[in-house]
Amino acid sequence: MQRNIQLLVLWFCLCGLALTLATTADNTTTITKATTIAKPDCQTRCGNLTVPYPFGIGPGSNCSIGEGFDITCNTSFYPPKPFIGDLEIYDISDTQLRVSNVMAKKCYNQTGGVVHENTASTSLLTTPYSFSEVNTFTVIGCDDFALISGSDQRNFTSGCVSMCSKAEDVLNGSCSGIGCCQTSIPKGLQYYITSLSSLEDHKGVWSFDPCSYAFLGELDSFTFRGASDFSDPDFMTRTMAKVPLVLDWVIGNQSCIKAQKSNDVVCESNSYCVDSDTGFGGYRCSCNKGYEGNPYISPGCQDIDECANPDNNTCDKICINTPGSYNCSCPHGYFGDGQKSGRGCVAKNSQFPVIKFSLGMGFGFLSIFIGITWLYFSITRRKLIKTREKFFLQNGGLLLKQQVSSNEGGVESTKIFTAEELEKATNNYAEDRIVGRGGYGTVYKGILPDKRVVAIKKSRIMDESQIEQFINEMVILTQVNHRNVVKLMGCCLESEVPLLVYEFVSNGTLFHHIHSRGGMSWLSWENRLRIAAESAGALAYLHSAASKPIIHRDVKSANILLDEHYTTKISDFGASRLIPLDQAQVTTLVQGTLGYLDPEYFHTSQLTDKSDVYSFGVVLAELLTGKKPLCLERSQEERNLATYFIMSVKKNRLFHILEPRVVREGTLEQLQIVAELVKKCLNLNGEDRPTMKEVAMELEGLRKFTKHPWVNQHDHEETVSLVSENEQSDLYTVQLSPFNNNPDISGQYSLDSSQLMFPANSPR
Ligand SMILES: *[C@@H]1O[C@H](CO)[C@@H](O)[C@H](O)[C@H]1NC(C)=O
Ligand SMILES: *[C@@H]1O[C@H](CO)[C@@H](O)[C@H](O)[C@H]1NC(C)=O
Ligand SMILES: *[C@@H]1O[C@H](CO)[C@@H](O)[C@H](O)[C@H]1NC(C)=O
Ligand SMILES: *[C@@H]1O[C@H](CO)[C@@H](O)[C@H](O)[C@H]1NC(C)=O
Ligand SMILES: *[C@@H]1O[C@H](CO)[C@@H](O)[C@H](O)[C@H]1NC(C)=O
Ligand SMILES: *[C@@H]1O[C@H](CO)[C@@H](O)[C@H](O)[C@H]1NC(C)=O
Ligand SMILES: *[C@@H]1O[C@H](CO)[C@@H](O)[C@H](O)[C@H]1NC(C)=O
Ligand SMILES: *[C@@H]1O[C@H](CO)[C@@H](O)[C@H](O)[C@H]1NC(C)=O
Ligand SMILES: *[C@@H]1O[C@H](CO)[C@@H](O)[C@H](O)[C@H]1NC(C)=O
Ligand SMILES: *[C@@H]1O[C@H](CO)[C@@H](O)[C@H](O)[C@H]1NC(C)=O
Repeated sequence: MQRNIQLLVLWFCLCGLALTLATTADNTTTITKATTIAKPDCQTRCGNLTVPYPFGIGPGSNCSIGEGFDITCNTSFYPPKPFIGDLEIYDISDTQLRVSNVMAKKCYNQTGGVVHENTASTSLLTTPYSFSEVNTFTVIGCDDFALISGSDQRNFTSGCVSMCSKAEDVLNGSCSGIGCCQTSIPKGLQYYITSLSSLEDHKGVWSFDPCSYAFLGELDSFTFRGASDFSDPDFMTRTMAKVPLVLDWVIGNQSCIKAQKSNDVVCESNSYCVDSDTGFGGYRCSCNKGYEGNPYISPGCQDIDECANPDNNTCDKICINTPGSYNCSCPHGYFGDGQKSGRGCVAKNSQFPVIKFSLGMGFGFLSIFIGITWLYFSITRRKLIKTREKFFLQNGGLLLKQQVSSNEGGVESTKIFTAEELEKATNNYAEDRIVGRGGYGTVYKGILPDKRVVAIKKSRIMDESQIEQFINEMVILTQVNHRNVVKLMGCCLESEVPLLVYEFVSNGTLFHHIHSRGGMSWLSWENRLRIAAESAGALAYLHSAASKPIIHRDVKSANILLDEHYTTKISDFGASRLIPLDQAQVTTLVQGTLGYLDPEYFHTSQLTDKSDVYSFGVVLAELLTGKKPLCLERSQEERNLATYFIMSVKKNRLFHILEPRVVREGTLEQLQIVAELVKKCLNLNGEDRPTMKEVAMELEGLRKFTKHPWVNQHDHEETVSLVSENEQSDLYTVQLSPFNNNPDISGQYSLDSSQLMFPANSPR
């Protein structure tokens, strides 16, 4: 970061240096040229006036282009004065002459008698001159009208009237009709004469305006000063000295085309012919663009060196003069169009910094961005790790580790998974990975990195006081190694709730197989018997094999899973033991599934292994009848399968409720034994029920008497439609906390009590 700032500063410095270099690298070439003004051996000046060709001083000197352009220089004056005819020349330009002027004046006495009068007229006939448009005919006076008449090829008369009654009315500074009026004249006029007239011979205005004046002259040179001009005796001389007559001049009396035809054009090189707009013909010469000088005299117009004066070119650095124009360029090591108004010249080594600068800025921002992102992620990662550690401790990670290490060998196959591993395995707990939802949580299908498929059970949030219980349960469960019990592969304690990782059982639940529409062809009598025996065996093993009995507490067909070979796998084992069984606790929950729930346990909250026996009895009845343990659509007496079954056996109506296929395939003896077994299991008094071991032995014994040898279920696989694992197990959970609180309440265990039916995830 610091390095970037250093680079930045360096580039700023480099940029500045380049700019300074660029300003000093300015170079202009200066070439001076003499311009020809007049013919050789001709006087160019008369007094203060420079006389350029086609004008020439002195008649007969052959210095001018023609008779009309001869200028007389009267040396009797000092300095000498140039004249053309009677007119003194003040100034000669490319198109015009400024010459001396004349004014008409008429003065009256008090009674209206004329005491002074002179007219004004100028004739330019037979000369190459005409009165320019910039001249205006002006009349001064308060009781006057004046006419101007002229002619060229046309006759022309114009004029204006100026009337006023008081001196105060006369406006200062503008000739607007009060005391002064003006009118324009047509182009090309070569002769004019003015005449002044008065309507009342100034009798009414004589006191402030005894004289009137009229003249033709350059508009911009004259300023009317109001009534003070009326009384000014020197008005005429003063005005005539200031206001010249402007004349346009032309060469010849032919248009350019005509002159070119007769090879009479006098325009020299680098110039062109311009037709005069005076109306009586003639033309002038004008230098081409980029040239200057006298177009009438050899060698004609000269190239302007625009580069000589920085004001004359638009070049930023190097100006190269070309004939009629110039080129701008940049010195070596610079680039650009060289125009001041354009991109100018930029030092090439300053272009480098520009790129480097932007690159540097880019990299700077990028690195800042990356840095911030990295910081953010590392902070959140650390936070995550901390949270996971917290959860690990909270979830009894250390306790489990301790237990695991003290319990050497037994849990070698149990793994403590990291939260990351399981997130990866379940594609971050994607919705499409859910294979089941139950009272205890959600089950996801996960694929471990070694391609093993697992079921990951995400428990619902649990109490910290249950940790020890949970850990103990975990340890016991990891010790369980029975082919008919779903294997617990490990757990994860880093998440908010403990995650249990089980082996994945692919073929769905027994519940689904029994109750799916149309029934299952492979559910033959012997297969039913096998599943019953396997389940009973697994339960018996767990009731007796472990150091202290593990009670399933939620035996039901939905918790009996089938793998790809239809081998029975009891699942959710011990999960219910996550709920403490502390009878002293205020809130004691009776948990189980309606229809399978042991009524004795329901009333006493006293959980024994016989509760599992009761539930297993319901499963057996389910296997025999193909009826759901609880169906509200059935009639009152048939609603609960357990009571319905017992009632049917008592009334000798057993064969009415057995599934036809069972009746077909099972022998009468077998069915009677099983029915009796079911009846015993469903005994309301737990003590009178057989143990799970007895049940298992009885079922195993029955299997030996099956009519048919073992049927390999692989032969039937094709006919089995794979069921969705999205089995809604654990759907009903009974909560009776207030009842158990009160020992006096010996409420009847009634299954039609709809208040007992809650969805499993109803708030606690
Ligand atoms: C400008 O150009 C002239 C010739 O074209 C050269 O002699 C002179 O050294 C240049 N000056 C600068 C400052 O480059
Ligand atoms: C003419 O030149 C003289 C001196 O050479 C100068 O005093 C005078 O003002 C000039 N007149 C004009 C009208 O330029
Ligand atoms: C002017 O030119 C004419 C003819 O071209 C010649 O006769 C005359 O001598 C010249 N005058 C002068 C003063 O050179
Ligand atoms: C020069 O001017 C004076 C005074 O106006 C005049 O007398 C004289 O004739 C003029 N000379 C020429 C050559 O026109
Ligand atoms: C005014 O001029 C006229 C003619 O010129 C003359 O007859 C008259 O006496 C003059 N009046 C005065 C007061 O001078
Ligand atoms: C101008 O008017 C005069 C008389 O007033 C006449 O003789 C002359 O021919 C006219 N000129 C033109 C060009 O009409
Ligand atoms: C007209 O203007 C001039 C200068 O601008 C001033 O000296 C003069 O008094 C003014 N006259 C009137 C009548 O306003
Ligand atoms: C044009 O000028 C020439 C002499 O320069 C002259 O002979 C001719 O008559 C003039 N033509 C016209 C129409 O004025
Ligand atoms: C060029 O520069 C000269 C002065 O060196 C100036 O008088 C002239 O007006 C300039 N021309 C243009 C076209 O800017
Ligand atoms: C000036 O520039 C034009 C076009 O930009 C080019 O054709 C010409 O050759 C250049 N002339 C010089 C003298 O560099």
